[in-house]
Amino acid sequence: MTSDDKKKMAAYAALDYVEKGSIIGVGTGSTVNHFIDAIAEKMKGAIDAAVSSSEASSERMKKHGIRVIDLNSAGELSIYVDGADESNRHLQLIKGGGGALTREKIVAAASKTFVCIADDTKLVPFLGKFPLPVEVIPMARSLVARELVKLGGKPVWREHFITDNGNQILDVHNLEIMEPMKMETFINQIAGVVTVGLFAHRPADVLLLGSEKGVQVIKP
Ligand code: A5P
Repeated sequence: MTSDDKKKMAAYAALDYVEKGSIIGVGTGSTVNHFIDAIAEKMKGAIDAAVSSSEASSERMKKHGIRVIDLNSAGELSIYVDGADESNRHLQLIKGGGGALTREKIVAAASKTFVCIADDTKLVPFLGKFPLPVEVIPMARSLVARELVKLGGKPVWREHFITDNGNQILDVHNLEIMEPMKMETFINQIAGVVTVGLFAHRPADVLLLGSEKGVQVIKP
């Protein structure tokens, strides 16, 4: 079984959390692409609309004929479905490998339940092996990088990449994230940081992990 098979399995399992007639939040990435395809295949007429966390996901949904609306006209969302780059047992996450972290954090914050879908390699004892993405205002990139070095990290500029919001990304290597909430708060207050890809204050509510044994349902 490939990791893509596992992602697909988790994505289809997330359909059980989708309420008929609801407006759902939809994340970004290869796992979510399976979820979008699953909605189109099994529930297209059953949901009212979707709020998207990226241009890429919006485009994919529109191609399927799924109505995509702005968060400002949606109110609170019943669920948000998204992937992750890493999750610990508390369902605190590293996200932003695809660069959509800011909108992902916004849509997650606007949702009652955050359903995270992933293959089983994403579950780790401690966060930080995956380089932590930090979206920055372009003029502050070097300033933020120097502050991240003081934290013990090695920030690497994701060159030739601009976020949907017109900003840049630093991927921070070599961080041992023992206290995710503290680190999220600390990085967020550095001047020039738009969003850090740590989802610790707003973790997932349920993690659906595709594995050889089927889908494991993990709750904090
Ligand atoms: C997008 O910015 C990310 O947060 C993704 O959710 C994350 O990178 C997971 O991606 P895959 O589903 O492609 O593994």
